[in-house]
Amino acid sequence: MDIYKELNEGLGYAIFPIENMELFNKLRDSFIENIKISSNSKKNIDSVRKEIAKMSKGEINKSTINFLTVNKNLSEMMINSCSTLIEKLCGKELFIQRRAYTTINAPGDDQAKQVAHYEMISGISPFAYILWAPLHDLDDDGGAYHIDLKTSLDLMKKEEANGLVSGPEVLNFMGAKKPSRMKFGEAIIFNPFVIHGNIPFSSDCARIACNVRFQSFRKPLLQKNTEFLKYYKLP
Ligand SMILES: [Fe+2]
Repeated sequence: MDIYKELNEGLGYAIFPIENMELFNKLRDSFIENIKISSNSKKNIDSVRKEIAKMSKGEINKSTINFLTVNKNLSEMMINSCSTLIEKLCGKELFIQRRAYTTINAPGDDQAKQVAHYEMISGISPFAYILWAPLHDLDDDGGAYHIDLKTSLDLMKKEEANGLVSGPEVLNFMGAKKPSRMKFGEAIIFNPFVIHGNIPFSSDCARIACNVRFQSFRKPLLQKNTEFLKYYKLP
């Protein structure tokens, strides 16, 4: 199925191979190089993931926040590693997230989880897409699950009728759906109506993923504007 159709009329999300792996490898290497962990000798993605899994929540938060200040072109790297797909969806002229996110999820039942939600809830425009890519293979349940577009929209309409936002039915998706297993080099793209989240997982390793939001610059914005977005033209 055509990716535009799949995202707008089909499942609402799709897993696809990253186009520019040279750039995406650079992105991962930049993460490994810049992330602050206690043992800095011979770092690779697995040793970093193991080290992070042993850190306290506060230390993980500090590392994540510090990382934001060193990796200033993460958004462009994410966008450019999938530029053909993005151009197909939105054209060359875009609004992209000013600072893409790097998210670290530690294993264990005591870790905070991203509850089931859809991106419009945080003011992302209905014309935006979200690109999410792990920096390693996902061979445990540390990934993210996505609920198909029809189920997501039906539930949203039902909630609206009942005056609810993220009511029990949305929250019950937590644990009911298994995260996708993905390989390093694959990414998931989804629209802002698709309900998604993650579940507690057990592993020796933390999960590390990057994500960025973008839309055509010709489409209306919602609540997110200059603070969150910047203009970017694909090369
Ligand atoms: Fe999200």
